[in-house]
Amino acid sequence: MNKNHTTQHGSWSSGWAFVLAATGSAVGLGNIWKFPYITGENGGGAFVLVYLVCIAVIGIPIMMAEVLLGRRGRATPINAMRTLIVEASASRFWKIIGWMGMIAGFLILSYYSVIAGWALSYVTKSALGEFSGASAEFVGATFDELVSSPLSLLFWHTLFMFMTMFVVARGVEHGLEKAVRFLMPALFILLIVMVGYSLNSGGFAQGASFLFSPDFSKLSWTGVLIAMGHAFFTLSLGMGAIMMYGAYLPPQASIAKTSFLIAGADTLVALLAGIAIFPIVFANNLQPGVGPGLIFNTLPIAFGAMPGGVFFGTLFFILLVFAAWSSAISLIEPMVTWLVENRDQSRFKASLIAGVLTWALGLGTVFSFNLIADVKMYDSTFFDLLDFLTSNIMLPLGGLLIAIFAGWLLPHIMSLDELNLDTRAYSLWRFLVRYVTPIAVLVVFVNVTKIYKIFGF
Ligand code: PHE
Repeated sequence: MNKNHTTQHGSWSSGWAFVLAATGSAVGLGNIWKFPYITGENGGGAFVLVYLVCIAVIGIPIMMAEVLLGRRGRATPINAMRTLIVEASASRFWKIIGWMGMIAGFLILSYYSVIAGWALSYVTKSALGEFSGASAEFVGATFDELVSSPLSLLFWHTLFMFMTMFVVARGVEHGLEKAVRFLMPALFILLIVMVGYSLNSGGFAQGASFLFSPDFSKLSWTGVLIAMGHAFFTLSLGMGAIMMYGAYLPPQASIAKTSFLIAGADTLVALLAGIAIFPIVFANNLQPGVGPGLIFNTLPIAFGAMPGGVFFGTLFFILLVFAAWSSAISLIEPMVTWLVENRDQSRFKASLIAGVLTWALGLGTVFSFNLIADVKMYDSTFFDLLDFLTSNIMLPLGGLLIAIFAGWLLPHIMSLDELNLDTRAYSLWRFLVRYVTPIAVLVVFVNVTKIYKIFGF
């Protein structure tokens, strides 16, 4: 084997560091904020089932493909693709994987930061005991008050962007991975505490049946697209984040094992969040389909009622902010590294440029919850449209291109060598990336009329 894995950014000391970094990227708002609300909007069980199937047959194989491309390309996504294109004698077109990913990360962070800002503001609200003994009405009104105030949202969005760019500018994100080692287990335990509360909330049976009994009459093709898009979003796939971390994976570490571990942890966190939230929804006669405010309208009710709720509530939102933080860093890192390596910027200046641009675009999301809430394009607010374009179009498209590149263009011997699997497992992986992912993404795209509307045909 002729592999030289020392990148200019150094190498992880063991596979564990990669697992922690990638888990830090994967577990975030997607699991705790987005998964419950889109499940609520799309009718529950059937949506959850499609999401789980997508994780298993598309998400895990694409994660393996991204890690292998990253480890083989040994650089940030755009530069890694450049190397791989030479190795595979492929057309320069394939650099689009790096480019589109970098842009997707930037677009996603612009709204991700606004939502992370909500979580930040809930840290202070919980710590001040605002939710002690609060009714569902009060909790709902508190959320409405927050999002209807452009200034509050702006403040928290700015603070979160600042936190993110501060870490990125110093290039100390590997320090954050050390934090992931403690934060993930803590988040886990806290979610279990909340599931415990939900068990006794009076809505458990209804919540569990909403999540786990599929009723396909409630699921539209758009719902299927959202479930598939979310499989990419929640695992940080289709935009090069995992590829970037894969560049640091030591050669002897197993790509399959690490991918299963990351995807397993990520899925577990999402399901626990769902099991904690939906019983509260039903016990309080709330609507599962209220949208992006779902967790902020429900969890504080639980914290307000449980013993030690101020402590648990504050801790929960702190952990949520940390989870969002480690994801946010991976969203913007490809752009910052690109500016450093290809545009000769200092790391500080690159972070400043990327941060200011992302912050400015985030204003669109800030205002889409208040000042321009009524301005709709294709039935969506600015935030909804941006989320749709990135999670449901750009990431699956990126995943499709990665699947084709890794499955069809990269010489067979290279993927075999990198993945180091037995023949049956390798053939299964290859079948999934060559056929299943591309066909699934195309079939779903073709069936969603909103896509035709947006692209004008
Ligand atoms: N996976 C992250 C989450 O679930 C979001 C993310 C998407 C991060 C794409 C990086 C790349 O919150």
